[in-house]
Amino acid sequence: MKKIPVGIIGATGMVGQRFVTLLKNHPFFDIVALAASPRSVNQKYQQAVKGRWVMSEPIPKSIKNIRVMGVEKDLEEIAKRVELVFSALDMEKEKIRSVEDGFANLGVVVVSNNSAHRWTKDVPMIMPEINPQHLKLIKHQQENHGWKRGFVVVKPNCSIQSYVPMLTPLLKYGIKKVVVTTLQAVSGAGKILKDWPQMQENLIPNIPGEEEKSEIEPSKIWGKLIDGQIKLTGPAISATCIRVPLEDGHMAAVAVSFKKKVSKKQIINEWKKFNPLKFLKLPSAPNPFITYFEEDDRPQTKLDRNLEDGMGIAAGRLREDGEGFKFIGLSHNTIRGAAGGAILTAELLMKKGYIDG
Ligand SMILES: NC(=O)c1ccc[n+]([C@@H]2O[C@H](COP(=O)([O-])OP(=O)(O)OC[C@H]3O[C@@H](n4cnc5c(N)ncnc54)[C@H](OP(=O)(O)O)[C@@H]3O)[C@@H](O)[C@H]2O)c1
Repeated sequence: MKKIPVGIIGATGMVGQRFVTLLKNHPFFDIVALAASPRSVNQKYQQAVKGRWVMSEPIPKSIKNIRVMGVEKDLEEIAKRVELVFSALDMEKEKIRSVEDGFANLGVVVVSNNSAHRWTKDVPMIMPEINPQHLKLIKHQQENHGWKRGFVVVKPNCSIQSYVPMLTPLLKYGIKKVVVTTLQAVSGAGKILKDWPQMQENLIPNIPGEEEKSEIEPSKIWGKLIDGQIKLTGPAISATCIRVPLEDGHMAAVAVSFKKKVSKKQIINEWKKFNPLKFLKLPSAPNPFITYFEEDDRPQTKLDRNLEDGMGIAAGRLREDGEGFKFIGLSHNTIRGAAGGAILTAELLMKKGYIDG
């Protein structure tokens, strides 16, 4: 298969660096453009990230000498070179919408990590295993804008990846309510522990904006697509989000109550068999999607965040609790929750024929 030329906008940040490492030797995508803010422009990538490269593996050789372009300044030039951009930008939401729409308008597919377009009515917010049917919204988006090839697809917040996968196959038991507490690593804020002294030996019981996202984004993911619109559905979720002194990995402690009777054995079976993408054989898709640990002290962040190359979801400690159950979830926030999730979405778009190549 001929590889698709892709760009990364916001290539120098935490998520951008993750894209760079995950796309090395990717069978579908070939990085041909990297872009960031004016402070990085015109530097070779290795200079632009000097002193702030935080991945455990070195910068891929093929990437080191690529000259960083300006996201806004060089938008048209980037659009000429690529068919798809992965967006890992962190700037004002209005500007991000304008940049992402600008690429789509020039025929480029945009797969974004940013929240700017998550609530735009005709933009699908995709977790590939859970709501691939929402990709049908792309046709409406293109009609609304008069776009022929380009479009924007977004992925949801990193926090929800640690509990929405486990709740999804249980929706049929009539979930009444979900109470979730997330314990979120510092890379979720684009930082490392060494550079965040306030986080050392400390927990911060508030991540601005995160609880709202954790509570409402699942309702779009689970929403019903009717007449070109997504009707929000799903149970009420109450979230508390806490920043913890870990480099990577978001854990969730979840309590869920049901209208129908369901047993512990049934729940674990639902989780074990839930892997709707299995037959598509996408390069980044985990198999299994959810791994249930029987041990009382698992999942553990350090041991289990890299499950299935960071794309798997770990679950454990399922126990009865009044009208429902409690359990623990864990996912890698910059892989499954950001760059890896976006790459899997792009693979799905390829497989389903949304990118012509
Ligand atoms: N970290 C996670 O776990 C995670 C998970 C899910 C989603 N996200 C989302 O992904 C996005 C990126 O997060 P991050 O943690 O990677 O942030 P980050 O480390 O702060 O990186 C931000 C990137 O945006 C670029 N940028 C900033 N201002 C710009 C401007 N005015 N023009 C053009 N480029 C600009 C930066 O370029 P310079 O280096 O040149 O300044 C950098 O490449 C955010 O929207 C975040 O909410 C992050």
